[in-house]
Amino acid sequence: MNLQGKHILLIVGGGIAAYKSLDLVRRLRERGATVTPVLTRAGAEFVTPLSLSSLCGRKVYDDLWDLTDEAEMGHIQLSRVADLIVVAPATADLMAKMAGGHADDLASTLLLATDTPVLMAPAMNVRMWTHAATRRNLGTLTADGIATVGPNEGDMACGEFGPGRMAEPLEIVEAVGIRLGGGPLAGRHVVVTSGPTHEPIDPVRYIANRSSGAQGAAIAAALRDLGARVTFVTGPADRPPPQGVDIRRVETAAEMLDAVEGALPADVAIFAAAVADWRVANAAGQKMKKGPSGLPHLDLVENPDILATIARMEEGRPRLVVGFAAETENVLENATAKRVRKGCDWILANDVSPATGIMGGAENALTLVTTDGVEDWPRDTKVAQAARLARRIADHLEASET
Ligand code: C5P
Repeated sequence: MNLQGKHILLIVGGGIAAYKSLDLVRRLRERGATVTPVLTRAGAEFVTPLSLSSLCGRKVYDDLWDLTDEAEMGHIQLSRVADLIVVAPATADLMAKMAGGHADDLASTLLLATDTPVLMAPAMNVRMWTHAATRRNLGTLTADGIATVGPNEGDMACGEFGPGRMAEPLEIVEAVGIRLGGGPLAGRHVVVTSGPTHEPIDPVRYIANRSSGAQGAAIAAALRDLGARVTFVTGPADRPPPQGVDIRRVETAAEMLDAVEGALPADVAIFAAAVADWRVANAAGQKMKKGPSGLPHLDLVENPDILATIARMEEGRPRLVVGFAAETENVLENATAKRVRKGCDWILANDVSPATGIMGGAENALTLVTTDGVEDWPRDTKVAQAARLARRIADHLEASET
């Protein structure tokens, strides 16, 4: 990855992982980036200003009230000349300051005074990472558009095990490259459908299903993380949509089809929505009442098949069309037949029988069916499965162009 001409402002917080930030500097500079270091007071307890400035080949900024610095380069300017601000390690305290909008030292002031994109690499003790306060702060920071890499799970310096270890320098470098427009899906447009649809019976009642939208949201986020421009067409899902994607909210299957068609052209389309197969033809304009005339009569008609409609487009069809097959029996057989019937390129099959806990749960086990064969993706988190799919798509597009 080439970071030539890119300027990164690296804020080093006070955690044991700060030593990895020295290696991070080396890796960034190897790829051509200029790195200006900012060291918090706590950070200076873990790495010295001298080692940081030697590795960066630049002066370390570490004190908001240094008047010489203010005369040479004010803190506001310092944050704005950078293409990206990287906070590594982002300690629980730094995250809290960022989420709260504090500005009581150089690092927090820089972060508040800038509109430069920010990438943080959290690192802290497991309990601190899982604490409700840190969860809240992470939610706020994500909603504010701050990107995160890691933390990873593993043995920690404090002797505990779990999530909280800072991402490795090379993982941070990859995330930096993606933020700076160098991801493998940069320049690609992907449309993702997600969530259930609601088909009205009358103004207050509807037909729905148990889809939470978790897998679709994870897929959209993973594609975004590889640099794709993502249009996320979502029914009324439980899970919030990811940040940094173009969100189109719909209720019904007909609206979903319109939104997908309106979002084209796209390089790739992924249909993760659990679309209702039927809608009520005679949906009432007013709330239906119990009454002497007996039970209401609902006429069902078939909804448009969005996946099949797009997969069979004669002109402007996305190069790669991916469907899902949520099955409760004969999963592989049904999925293989479904791929052909719908005319899509790939099908991801999963077993949604209640015993698997997949529908609405955090994990998924998938089987990828393509023209070339079948691949099993063993049970893993929906986030990990999404990352695998995004990576697979990037590889496929690259291979089909060479
Ligand atoms: O036929 P079935 O509902 O099992 O097909 C599942 C796949 O087709 C999923 O990818 C789903 O998003 C898509 N689908 C669709 N429009 C429909 C029904 C299903 O796009 N009306």
